[in-house]
Order: sequence, then C-alpha cells, then structure tokens
Amino acid sequence: NSVKAFAPATVANVACGFDIFGFAIEEPGDVVELSRRDEPGIVITSIIGDEGRLPRNAEKNAVTVVMLHLLKHLRIKDLGCEVILHKNMPLGSGMGSSAASAVAGVVAMNELLGNPLTREELLPFAMEGERIASGSAHADNVGPSLLGGFVVIRSYTPLDIFTIPVPEDLYCTLVHPDIEINTKDARFILRNEVSLKNTIAQMGNVAGLVAGLMKADYDLIGRSMVDVIIEPVRSILIPEFKEVKQAAISNGALGCSISGAGPSMFALSRGIDNARKAGEAMQKRFAEAGIEAGLHVSAI
Ligand code: HSE
Repeated sequence: NSVKAFAPATVANVACGFDIFGFAIEEPGDVVELSRRDEPGIVITSIIGDEGRLPRNAEKNAVTVVMLHLLKHLRIKDLGCEVILHKNMPLGSGMGSSAASAVAGVVAMNELLGNPLTREELLPFAMEGERIASGSAHADNVGPSLLGGFVVIRSYTPLDIFTIPVPEDLYCTLVHPDIEINTKDARFILRNEVSLKNTIAQMGNVAGLVAGLMKADYDLIGRSMVDVIIEPVRSILIPEFKEVKQAAISNGALGCSISGAGPSMFALSRGIDNARKAGEAMQKRFAEAGIEAGLHVSAI
C-alpha cells in the first residue's frame, strides 16, 4: 500500500503577472513516496537532496502540512503513513521548490486514499503548503505544478484559476545562479502602492501576454514580457541581472525576466534551438562574473 507522486518545477509571475501567472516545466521536479504504517500519524522518514535543511517535523514541512490539511478536511483521524521526499531542485531558487513538494505531497496522499478529490479541488490544500514555506498562500507556483501548462489566477477571493493554451513551439530557458533568495524577503521589499502610470503599463502587458499566447503571436509575447512594477525592485538582488537579460534577448529569446521571486531567470523563445542558445549566453554571462549557473530548457 504505497504510492509515488511527481510534481514539476514552475516559473511564477512570467514577467508582468505577479502572483497571477505561472507555468510548469517538464523537469526537474520533486518526488514523494508515501506508504502506510500501522501506528497513526504522518512521519517524515527521509528527505533526500536538501542537505538536511528542511524541517523533519510533519507539522512544519510543506510536503506534509498539505497532507494534514487534506486529512482534516476528509475527517480522517487515524491514518498512519511514512513519507520520503526526493528534493530535486535547490531551495530558494525561484523554481517553485516548496510548491513542488506541496503538490507532490497532496497528490500522493489523495492517491493513497483512492483519489476522493479532483486535481482542482486539491489546490487550496497545496496553497497551505506554500503558506507554511513562504509566508504567503500564492497559487502561481502550486497552480501550474498541480494542473500543468500555463495558469492564470483571475482572483484569489474567491479562487478563480484556469489554464490557457500556449503555442506549440514555445520553449522556456531557466537559468539558476548559485545564490539563494528567500521568498519572504523578496516579498517584503516590494512597495504596497503602485502608480496609475505603471498600473496602465502592466495591464497592457498582461493583456498582451495572454493574447499573444492564445494567438501564437510570438512577437506580441516578447513585447509583453515587460514588468514595470516588481522587476525593477527585485532585480537588485540578482547580480548581473541586466547583462544576463540582455544576453538572452540578443541570443534569440523573445523576452527574459525573473523566475518567481528569483534568483533564477527565465526566458521564452520560439523553438528549442533559440532556447538553448539563449540559455548558454545567459550561463556564460553569469560565469564571466564568477557565478556558476544551472540550465534547464523545456517545452511548456
Ligand atoms: N508570485 C510569487 C512571488 C512567487 O513572486 O513572490 C514566488 O515563488
């Protein structure tokens, strides 16, 4: 009586859509193994790949917090199980690491119980995992990690989330410089007020990106990958940001911005060759500043 679930890394915000846009990539992703045991209670037996940094207490780790919320909702009190978490992406990387653990956790538990809830119904539970890990229950990582594809969160209260189609030949380049940014800190530094001028610019880009994706208009996608609100503040936390972004755009990418709260940067390109070329240029630019960076190229 055991199950295994995989949940992929994600790129949140997608330039102009802070907290409302996110998409899943093919890999990396976290894997959760869940097996029943006789005594009641959820026990984390091992976490592989976190260098011992994540909490082992089931009430404090996103991977198990989501399970506890789900069991409470289903009024199941005496279930006993053991959890093994394979962390296949770095913490604090901007690749939706906590979201991948939360989603793999809640999907595995739902499966162990015979799938009483649909994928969509699991979302609020996965968001609770995000809350414990990053201090905010945003859905732009857990949404796409759970549902796949490109996700739009039209509203948080009430929750209104849907996926939109993306062009077949659209590829994502994800470059992860070897530094760490805590999502809580990266949210704390943001201003609470936005000018009318910036709101208008951002709304135009949000509309443009959605239309560009749905119409497979690659130029429009590129023109709309502009963030006048969050990126100017957060990019200060990423060394060589401007240069790396320029390297991506001069080497075939349609656009480039911060992935989630950073420090990873992502680019979108038409075709896998452009996506690879942009990625190598981004990596090279980081290397010139003495920063090692991991590279993932993936279809969306
Ligand atoms: N939308 C969130 C943020 C994603 O940018 O803070 C964090 O991964």
